[in-house]
Amino acid sequence: NNEFAKIIAIDGPSGSGKSTVAKELARALGVLYIDTGAMFRALGFYADQQQIELVEGVDLTNFLNSIKMDYGVSSTCLIRINGVDLTEKIREHHVSKLASIISQLPSVRKYLLDFQRSLAMNKVCVMEGRDIGTVVFPNSFCKFFITASVDIRAERRLKQLQQSGDNSVTLEQIKDDVRKRDETDMNRVVAPLKKADDAMLLDTTELDINNIINILSNEVKFRAAHL
Ligand code: DC
Repeated sequence: NNEFAKIIAIDGPSGSGKSTVAKELARALGVLYIDTGAMFRALGFYADQQQIELVEGVDLTNFLNSIKMDYGVSSTCLIRINGVDLTEKIREHHVSKLASIISQLPSVRKYLLDFQRSLAMNKVCVMEGRDIGTVVFPNSFCKFFITASVDIRAERRLKQLQQSGDNSVTLEQIKDDVRKRDETDMNRVVAPLKKADDAMLLDTTELDINNIINILSNEVKFRAAHL
């Protein structure tokens, strides 16, 4: 399927540096960047705020049928549900947990699968998530799976939180969260976090960002030339 061929899929666990990598790669290539984690975060946050129980059922189905999600609204507004800008809110620490819970629900995954496919249709983009290369765009021409050690991932997460003014958690708590989140993300029944067979594996523990972007851009160009 040709229209799926224009997606560069970047998957990997939380804190692996894949967001930074995906954003920078999109910039280097001059293409659109799509953050699917932001969608799970926004849905988790908004459903919780509307007091929708985060379990399968009529309430969740009605909720999903009634909302309108907008992605990439403007340079300052990444994501919106029912007109409410959630760009800042979704980065708060407690939203990670809501996102992880809601991402295990098949009806939510189905909703976002459709949303992600229609968003990227006929566009060239870098799409970042957990199941982009395996489920959302299994035919994408270029896939990367980004990892890093738990220690470095927790340190990066802590720095991110501190930069956003959140000093409520310790490194140990974050390490614990990272491990638990890996465990749930990799073991969920629907679309678990998994490297696609044809994805290039990259461990960012020791690498610096410029090196990584170089490696990735070269791989994109190589695969594009061999389509
Ligand atoms: O990448 P992130 O930390 O913003 O993702 C938040 C949560 O959403 C995380 O628990 C995994 C889940 N997620 C997912 O299941 N599938 C995706 N494509 C993206 C995120």
